[in-house]
Amino acid sequence: MKVRIVADAAAQARLVADLVEQVVRSTPRPVLGLATGSSPLATYAELVRRHRAEGLAFEHCRVFLLDEYVGLTRHEAGYRSQIRRVVTDAVGIPPDAVQGPDGDAADLDAACAAYEDRLRASGGVDLQVLGIGADGHIGFNEPASALGSRTRPVVLTARTRADNARHFDHPGDVPRLALTQGIGTILEARHLVLLAAGAAKAGPVARALEGPITAMVPASALQLHPRVTVVLDDAAATDLRLADHHREVSSLEASHRYGVGP
Ligand code: F6R
Repeated sequence: MKVRIVADAAAQARLVADLVEQVVRSTPRPVLGLATGSSPLATYAELVRRHRAEGLAFEHCRVFLLDEYVGLTRHEAGYRSQIRRVVTDAVGIPPDAVQGPDGDAADLDAACAAYEDRLRASGGVDLQVLGIGADGHIGFNEPASALGSRTRPVVLTARTRADNARHFDHPGDVPRLALTQGIGTILEARHLVLLAAGAAKAGPVARALEGPITAMVPASALQLHPRVTVVLDDAAATDLRLADHHREVSSLEASHRYGVGP
């Protein structure tokens, strides 16, 4: 696991945008896995800037969402609408190349199975952007989710609904149900990039990176994956016992210009 600790949101966005750019430039039909939420917003803005200012082309990319609320797939507050609004429309990725689990389907289990089929048929996700919830969730895999879980309907915890209420007019509008890629599904992406910023994420980040692998901290499953890059600001790294070591690895890597294995 590579852990990069940077000063602020702008540096975090540049670093993650560099990783996305490498995939977009080097892969004939890149598959990007995109998270919604606040954590990746500066990164998406940086990708839009590179598209407009530097001509970075995304038309050949396909996008798969991590998750979607039930009942909001065709709604403004739905994750597919959000991702189109903040990034994919602005960088020229066609709407039909942006896919998510269909939270408006009559048969939600069938919609989840169909989403797994579409992910598999795409050849799999090249780079998956992830955020982390206050309770350690990734996607909408709440604590106690099976580490091998697949895309499925889930009930959101009261904590997650409260955290996400800021995106809705009334707290009671936050759906109780969502569809999410499972932890097992997420772990099949070829490169996982976890972003976290701010003091509120310090505890969950430390539990995920330095605690035991446990279903009670879904993000701890990242420890099982061979290629993970975690990009933190200083505040989100505060509780890491190995923070100084990660800083030393980064500076050695920068000065020697070689890749240090995770
Ligand atoms: C969003 C998602 C969630 C968020 C997490 C952090 O698609 O899957 O796991 O990444 O809740 O949210 P923010 O970034 O808003 O703190």
